[in-house]
Amino acid sequence: MNKTCNCGILGLGSCFPKKVLTNHDLEKMVDTSNEWITKRTGISERRILDEDVPAHKLGVEAAKKALADAKVEPEEVDLIIVTTETPDYLTPSMSCLIQSEIGATKAAAFDLNAACSGFIYGMSVANQFIRSGFYKYVLIVGCEGLSKVVDWKDRNTCVLFGDGAGAVLFGPVEEGCGIITTYTGAAGELGKNITIPCCYISPEDIEARGGENKRTLWMDGSEVFKFAVKIMEHASTKVLDDAGLTMDDIKLIVPHQANIRILEGAAKRLNIPNDKVFSNLHRYGNISSASIPVGLTDAYSQKIISKGDNLILVGFGGGLTWGAAIIRWNK
Ligand code: COA
Repeated sequence: MNKTCNCGILGLGSCFPKKVLTNHDLEKMVDTSNEWITKRTGISERRILDEDVPAHKLGVEAAKKALADAKVEPEEVDLIIVTTETPDYLTPSMSCLIQSEIGATKAAAFDLNAACSGFIYGMSVANQFIRSGFYKYVLIVGCEGLSKVVDWKDRNTCVLFGDGAGAVLFGPVEEGCGIITTYTGAAGELGKNITIPCCYISPEDIEARGGENKRTLWMDGSEVFKFAVKIMEHASTKVLDDAGLTMDDIKLIVPHQANIRILEGAAKRLNIPNDKVFSNLHRYGNISSASIPVGLTDAYSQKIISKGDNLILVGFGGGLTWGAAIIRWNK
């Protein structure tokens, strides 16, 4: 066991499929319009995997980039956590597939499913392992292939989601930097609002899918919308209180990207300008647990954040689950 230390971000990377599906493409697939999608969601396009390509391939590339950014070798990684709600297989886990392909021969590996909140849940696990000195390097890969579970005939959902992966290597950082606090929560009684059946499907699930026994994503969009705006405010306020900080101390919020109106609604409740809330939703749509690590990678490469800045990361989604964290940028 090493001595205790702060846990922070050492490297970041992301990867997307090449294929772009625009709102205009969707107009040819379901009864929708570019105007409706842009106005109601903020999404212009999303990236989609070819049918014969498994989603973990995106995670492999994102993970390699994060390790190269950190200048850490794959063999040095102690633990890989892949956050996903769209694993290629139930077993082997996506984390084992990625572990093997990047050559992280000494790493333990497991998948974590907290839907769109997965990255924050993963961070809270990494923080415990690194702070305690038990592990030095923990790689979290948010890796999703939503296109494989979306019902491409359902206009209520198919316009919202996309595929992508974001990876972050966590490790020891100097005193005063890194993860300051994390908060995670769940309300299982609301889980019925977003479902993707897997090994079991109930009569209610079949009814929601128009009487068809299909294992596709179904969602009560307006219920989730109301939940998301409230929980973003609650979770952000909770981590600020826990850290003894105020919104004035925060440079940027990097939230889960589901709908621009959710982000604007939460900004209003938090009494902050919209430009304090990072968004890349127009390019990728909702990529579930990949959206926060991808958002961090984009914000960092666009030089919006620099060393010493305090960030709030906040996620919400299926389960229903939520989570938030405050991190002092150390790169
Ligand atoms: N194109 C055109 N019309 C559409 C449409 C589409 N792609 N999808 C839905 N509509 C229609 C509906 O059928 C409905 O028509 P009706 O009034 O004739 O029944 C109308 O638009 C309004 O539907 P409503 O559900 O009230 O829209 P909304 O403003 O709530 O927006 C969502 C719908 C799904 C975009 C929005 O609720 C949302 O983003 N929810 C949260 C999604 C989310 O975050 N999910 C993941 C959680 S991590």
